Amino acid sequence: MSYVNPPTVPRKSATFDDYTLSEIRRAATTGIYDIRGAGAKRKVPHFDDLLFLGASMSRYPLEGYRERCDTDVVLGSRFAKKPLHLKIPITIAGMSFGSLSANAKEALGRGASAAGTSTTTGDGGMSSEEREQSKILVYQYLPSRYGMNPEDLLKADAIEVVIGQGAKPGGGGMLLGQKITDRVAAMRTLPKGIDQRSASRHPDWTGPDDLEIQILELREITDWQKPIFVKIGGARPYYDVALAVKAGADVVVVDGMQGGTAATQEVFIEHVGMPTLACINPAVRALQDLGMHRKVQLIVSGGIRNGADVAKALALGADAVSIGTAALVALGENDPIHEAEYAALNTTSEAYDDWHEGKDPAGITTQDPELMARLDPVLAGRRLSNFLKVLTLEAQTIARACGHNHVHNLEPEDLCALTVEAAAMARVPLAGTSWIPGAK
Ligand SMILES: Cc1cc2nc3c(=O)[nH]c(=O)nc-3n(C[C@H](O)[C@H](O)[C@H](O)COP(=O)(O)O)c2cc1C
Repeated sequence: MSYVNPPTVPRKSATFDDYTLSEIRRAATTGIYDIRGAGAKRKVPHFDDLLFLGASMSRYPLEGYRERCDTDVVLGSRFAKKPLHLKIPITIAGMSFGSLSANAKEALGRGASAAGTSTTTGDGGMSSEEREQSKILVYQYLPSRYGMNPEDLLKADAIEVVIGQGAKPGGGGMLLGQKITDRVAAMRTLPKGIDQRSASRHPDWTGPDDLEIQILELREITDWQKPIFVKIGGARPYYDVALAVKAGADVVVVDGMQGGTAATQEVFIEHVGMPTLACINPAVRALQDLGMHRKVQLIVSGGIRNGADVAKALALGADAVSIGTAALVALGENDPIHEAEYAALNTTSEAYDDWHEGKDPAGITTQDPELMARLDPVLAGRRLSNFLKVLTLEAQTIARACGHNHVHNLEPEDLCALTVEAAAMARVPLAGTSWIPGAK
């Protein structure tokens, strides 16, 4: 009797998965590494790995519709004569004019202003539209110095010294030639149509002492009026936050590895930096150890998507959060209504991340006049303000359920973790236990 092998299911490798195989083939064909926008796509411990406990017998919840739960935040109360007063603890992160269209920058300003919060310039200077539409505008002072203009510095409401970004701590930015129009080139004082790679460190610094000098200079230029933020990529948050505080920062922004970017090497986005969740506790401890928690405000960014993420970041000790990618999606980025056009670009609405190419069907990450005209800044601004309102309402709902009359009263006590990793990183107990791995 002859023996017939039963049919087997072809087994794919978990190590050499479809994406990995296609990347090897792409690299072998082109000889160049992949550049893309957006943040880390692989799964790392995140806010989803935490849960709120809510009030029960030992805690007393507030009534959702009758009892107040405030959301305002003051940023820059340490030294600045004019700190920022925001109605909500959610700011719009720095995204460069150049990576984003003028209409997108205008829409961000409109949406943030309607919601009572700030927006931020980026690697490329201050566009007139964003200054006009942003009631509160933070001006980035970057290693590249692209678009750096002392007059704009004076027009800003706060200054953010950028040391790094979560998507690429230790790396510089890039803006490819196809997005460098006459206007973008003029603002950056660089040639049109030629790829720009911005510096990974400030040209006049050799260490943290130079940051102190820089901050003093910026304070003198702005007559000690404007808060000075320092933004760091999430790599060594305990020491970096401590050094930023020592250098005189009013506000420290910590951006974790899920943080979005306009254009960076894929290998950098996925393999350099720490998850946002792992950055918050060390940053808060640094502030506490220096007696500066709540005196120097902490803004956390990198993968914030909803009110639960906002509430979790605040509960872990942040004073505010900042959003980039979610704000762009609220404006209309990656919208399935453009599915046919995404397909023509060999991608899908969910996966589209070639923001550096300037072909964005939504008219947001582009400088193409026809594509850009698709984005109505008034309508998109309204969408963003709606989104910010929902984030705030969601965070408030959670805070009330935990018995707090201000979202800033949320605390680690309100949280538990679903995984050992998240418990260790966020320093909250594993659900159902009092165990915080690594805590003494
Ligand atoms: C399109 C785009 C452009 C960006 N440009 C800058 C920039 O010019 N300067 C900067 O410090 N960060 C820049 N970032 C990073 C954001 O400021 C922020 O750190 C990040 O988007 C936060 O993570 P999230 O996108 O998950 O919210 C950019 C991000 C995006 C998505």
